[in-house]
Amino acid sequence: MVASVTLNVQPDSHSLARAAADFICAQVVARPDLSILVATGNTPMPTYSELARRAQAGEADFSRVTAVQLDEYLGVPEDDPRSLWAWMKRSFVEPLGTGRTVRLDDPAQFESEISELGGIDLAILGLGPNGHLGFNEPPSPPDAPTRRLALMPASLESNRAYWGDLPVPTQAVTAGMNVILAARQTLLLVSGAHKRTVLRAALEEPETPDLPASLLRRTAPTVIADAAAWT
Ligand code: GLP
Repeated sequence: MVASVTLNVQPDSHSLARAAADFICAQVVARPDLSILVATGNTPMPTYSELARRAQAGEADFSRVTAVQLDEYLGVPEDDPRSLWAWMKRSFVEPLGTGRTVRLDDPAQFESEISELGGIDLAILGLGPNGHLGFNEPPSPPDAPTRRLALMPASLESNRAYWGDLPVPTQAVTAGMNVILAARQTLLLVSGAHKRTVLRAALEEPETPDLPASLLRRTAPTVIADAAAWT
């Protein structure tokens, strides 16, 4: 493994959530006006619930944080239950009370809004089953920009779990690898035995655009995994 990765293995998804919340809260205390790139997906949901609990208990203050959308489906209106914007709002923005948001719609406008913010301070990321970050499908080189793209079969399959009987959108827009890798801090959350093989490869195999998550190692990431994902 590359020395610069900080790997924190927790016994289960509950302790993962507490450890991740501790990490995020420490960043917000150090810099209350943090800009955070916010993953949706199942993995970070217990972490966001823990952050919301702390916010509601007055233990943490996210009112000056800017929440930046990581990825989105194309052709899905804002009020569609599958909208990742709506998912980010109900799981993160509203319960934490973040002050500002940046929506991902037009790639060029998104990148210029991030420049105006002064870049991303903290990227909270999940790990796709094929090693994608956001929707940066393999192969995604380090300079892959924010862009629209077609989802690969593995992503369609994993995303099916979110939407029950509704069809999974096949096109998406993602914050580019350029945006993710330029974040001042990166936090990768990984939970479950089904992520074990791809996590090992991301941390231990040679860096390659064919496994976009492996490129994260150049950011000195913090990786918090549960024991099922790292044994
Ligand atoms: C999805 C999303 C990612 C997410 C990842 C892992 O397809 N595009 O943003 O982080 O795959 O999802 P999960 O946490 O549900 O395993």
